[in-house]
Amino acid sequence: MRCDILTLFPQAVEPYLAVGILGKAVASGIVDVRVHDLRRWAINRYGQVDDEIYGGGPGMAILAPVAVAAVEELAGGDRVRVVLPDPRGRIFTQEVAKELAFQERLIFLCGRYEGFDARVAQILQADEVSIGDYVVSGGELPALVILDAVLRQVRGVVGDPQSVVQDSFTLGLLDFPVYTRPRHFRGLAVPDVLLSGNHEAIRRYRLRESLRLTLQRRPELLQRYLPHLPPEVQRLALEMAEELGLHNLLAADRG
Ligand code: ADE
Repeated sequence: MRCDILTLFPQAVEPYLAVGILGKAVASGIVDVRVHDLRRWAINRYGQVDDEIYGGGPGMAILAPVAVAAVEELAGGDRVRVVLPDPRGRIFTQEVAKELAFQERLIFLCGRYEGFDARVAQILQADEVSIGDYVVSGGELPALVILDAVLRQVRGVVGDPQSVVQDSFTLGLLDFPVYTRPRHFRGLAVPDVLLSGNHEAIRRYRLRESLRLTLQRRPELLQRYLPHLPPEVQRLALEMAEELGLHNLLAADRG
């Protein structure tokens, strides 16, 4: 997969792509990620990329000819999915990450100021995506959040594919808690079952902990994804909802 990131602040984006799992994937060529300074497509020798907004008001908008020229040059005539981080976009979820991971190429358009001239998204048929109901100062952090989640879905990026399979098996479930040494700390002990060596008991314990956390903290996640979970997990979810006095919660959606 090839990803291009267009930004006025390449120096804010590049360090994140150089470390950890993504850093390895980029260095080994599994994914081709290129960061470009939007100013390369400035309309004059002063490096102008933005202007005041029509109708008045504070802030500047990035010029449509700048953003469109940049994307068209990078796309080189191919139809490429343009992701435009924007709090007005569709909400980013693991499902959206999986969908974007099927694309051969992605171009991220990171805005600053008041964002892009509205015609940019229209002309480029951009996929406007929000990482949540809050506002950050530019598209760089959202682009990195989206890119990270998408690249984890690309084969070979995450060393142990089991952890990605696990992500999908448990889509809609919060992660179970993990422990490491020491066994006792400040009066809190590691649960005995994790030291038992009984893999089946450990698997069941972890599944129950995932379900318990999700039922208590994010019941709407479980409601939404329950039909997609394996039958064993569905049965256990209903059983635990009952135990926790939350049976109405899962029963409601099932008529
Ligand atoms: N730009 C500013 N805030 C954003 C958000 N929450 N999601 C995507 N892009 C953004």
